[in-house]
Amino acid sequence: MLVSGELLVAEYYKKGWVEFRKMFNLQTGSRLHSSWGFIPHDDIVGQPAGRFLKSSLSVPFLIRRATLEDYVLYMRRGPAIAYPKDASAMQLMMDVTEGDRVLESGSGSGAMSLFLSRAVGSKGSVLSVEVREDHHKRAVTNYKRWRTSWSLRRGEEWPDNVQFHIADLCTASSLLAGQAFHAVALDLVNPHLVLPTVIPHLYPGAVCAIYLANITQVIDLLEGLRCMQLPLLCEHIMEVPVRHWLVAPAMQKNGQFCTRKPPPLDGEHGEEEEEEATDETDKEELTTDGRPAFGVVPYIARPHPVQLSHTAFLVKLRKCGQ
Ligand SMILES: C[S@@+](CC[C@H](N)C(=O)[O-])C[C@H]1O[C@@H](n2cnc3c(N)ncnc32)[C@H](O)[C@@H]1O
Repeated sequence: MLVSGELLVAEYYKKGWVEFRKMFNLQTGSRLHSSWGFIPHDDIVGQPAGRFLKSSLSVPFLIRRATLEDYVLYMRRGPAIAYPKDASAMQLMMDVTEGDRVLESGSGSGAMSLFLSRAVGSKGSVLSVEVREDHHKRAVTNYKRWRTSWSLRRGEEWPDNVQFHIADLCTASSLLAGQAFHAVALDLVNPHLVLPTVIPHLYPGAVCAIYLANITQVIDLLEGLRCMQLPLLCEHIMEVPVRHWLVAPAMQKNGQFCTRKPPPLDGEHGEEEEEEATDETDKEELTTDGRPAFGVVPYIARPHPVQLSHTAFLVKLRKCGQ
């Protein structure tokens, strides 16, 4: 049952696509407002998650718990976040596992910190280094807010496994002294400038994954690597494209489903038969117990006209010896 204080998402779906989506904190006495009417939070408290509730204008809203992906996309941001699709790909690159110790920089808005926190679990830990105090504070606040909502939802603590530090990673040798990391995730400008400080603390054979906004930065990184002669092998450079699709039953202009029409049998006059059958075939076919029959409706599938534009290039560097 949903309890006050939880982070929820309200969604209104129209024609198979989300028309409205909002993340909010469930609070007694508040209202969820939209252009399609409002829902008092008191009507949501105590409901099971994943229910459709009607707004004051009788529009059905799906009310569900925020996933970590929702949270990082809708939380308050300082700088741009590592998008969930890219954060997941970086975790695969680094092969981050429960119990690992990972170095991350910069903390930014704290999105990557949260994904890493979940990946390493309560037996692991993340050191998150950020040069700007305002960004550091934003990352810490976002991390705490997610942990609070989680404990209300689950009745158990989200691991308190991220140590946020204010420091310039270029000159953070004393902070890193005596530490070793199973992986390093970098999302900052000029990453080649921090590699000499960081790489001595990465286990041999382990991976440093780098998030870069454009291909010019990738070129600068590779040129930096060529000049510095660090024990790093660039294993690959990739982009993670995601394409959203619209898949829905094909509809006629009159709002009826289109129907699949069988070819005429031998001896039948196809054209006439089809004409006569139109009224009948316009009605949705039902099974004997009144449910829609399977396989009678044709579908239409096309890429969604609105796609997320380019986000980042990911570079995988492996520490290797001679
Ligand atoms: C794009 S943001 C990181 C976003 C973060 N990955 C997230 O998912 O929310 C880049 C951050 O790196 C920080 N930064 C830049 N250079 C740095 C350095 N040398 N040491 C530490 N942090 C640095 C910036 O202040 C900024 O907050």
